[in-house]
Amino acid sequence: MDIIDLEKKWNSYIEETVNTNFKHTLDEVVRQMFKNFVKVGNNECKRILSLGIGAGNIEREYLLNGWYVTGVDIADKACDAILHNIENDVKNRVIERYEFIWSAFEEVKLSGYYNYVIAFNSLPYSFKEDLPNIISNVNNHVLPGSVFALTFFGDTHDFVKKTVCYGVSEEEIPLLFTGWEIKHINRVIETINIPYVTMRKKKKRYNPVVWDSIDVIAVKIWR
Ligand SMILES: C[S@@+](CC[C@H](N)C(=O)[O-])C[C@H]1O[C@@H](n2cnc3c(N)ncnc32)[C@H](O)[C@@H]1O
Repeated sequence: MDIIDLEKKWNSYIEETVNTNFKHTLDEVVRQMFKNFVKVGNNECKRILSLGIGAGNIEREYLLNGWYVTGVDIADKACDAILHNIENDVKNRVIERYEFIWSAFEEVKLSGYYNYVIAFNSLPYSFKEDLPNIISNVNNHVLPGSVFALTFFGDTHDFVKKTVCYGVSEEEIPLLFTGWEIKHINRVIETINIPYVTMRKKKKRYNPVVWDSIDVIAVKIWR
């Protein structure tokens, strides 16, 4: 698939998922672990970096709660998706805290420091050999105590078997995160039904997919 097709594919994914009342279990775990993480005081500067922000359904809530959000994505539809359905007066207030970088995460130029880095269901769609550089780039733009929450795919994931995505093993994960403490690893393997629309768009059908995902929360160590 070339870059244009890839962008088309992700743009339609974003259109389908925009403004769904989506909660990611990993984000819920982060909130439990770091109580009141989402509620910020007036003068605190809290910055999120989201690699592969997509529709921005989780990031939207943080934005509305006073956080600064930087979204990185190769799909241009991801730029405005986070602002979808936000009333104009609210939009005017939050927009100055939102930045979109239209880039592949393996090439992105970052600036400043982030407290919370999110990469949910996104990194496995790039190349495994880029992973150390992506993590090293993040490493240069976080503060001690910052949280990095991300999902990887395990080797039994259907997308990994079909080489659409790469897989990682649980043993590999701590080796990738030098300078970080791994606070949480949770692997779940389940079969889920992914909807697709038939060519004639008459019927929505479902494809069973083995979904082998590994949730990770790492915290940047003080040195
Ligand atoms: C499965 S979606 C996940 C979106 C969102 N993080 C979520 O959890 O709903 C993957 C996202 O990663 C983006 N993406 C895939 N490969 C990318 C790459 N190499 N660089 C930047 N973004 C990429 C896609 O455009 C898409 O928005």
